[in-house]
Amino acid sequence: MTKRNVVLIGMMGTGKSTVGQELARRLGFAFVDSDAEVEQRQGMTIKDMFAQLGEPAFREAETDTIRTIMGKPGQVVATGGGAVLAEAGRAAMQEGGFVVALRAGVETIIRRVREDQNRPLLQGDVEERVRTIMESRKHAYDFAELKVDTDGRSVEDIADEICRAWA
Ligand code: S3P
Repeated sequence: MTKRNVVLIGMMGTGKSTVGQELARRLGFAFVDSDAEVEQRQGMTIKDMFAQLGEPAFREAETDTIRTIMGKPGQVVATGGGAVLAEAGRAAMQEGGFVVALRAGVETIIRRVREDQNRPLLQGDVEERVRTIMESRKHAYDFAELKVDTDGRSVEDIADEICRAWA
């Protein structure tokens, strides 16, 4: 059976949104960013959610949002890097989507996220935070049907690989 959605998972800075938009354009699918959906539903930024409500409240809202998104077909979904941590989120992704993990080396990720002030998990020593989170999530993305390395590759090349695998 052809899965109804393409779901991109992976660490922060692996290019889920950029690749997702290119994929959506090619497939004629809607592009949905789970972080943006959570912010819209909650009426506040993720940064404020972490600060005012705490990470567990954000995670709950995130899982709920993913389940809602996955109820519809014809979308490329870019998920937040921690969306895979909840069993219910993983189950919804697998049920309604072709799950693709984007990967990048730690140095690439650090370079891509270094200037970002909006990721609450990266406050303080960004390099140390990225290394710690990557270590703790070493196997968190392993359930993907397809794993794609993104280091040194163009968005077009990455989208080609995903389209070929999905077709
Ligand atoms: C997070 C990743 C972020 C966002 C939040 C938490 C994580 O999304 O959901 O800051 O736990 O890895 P991106 O992966 O799109 O940066």
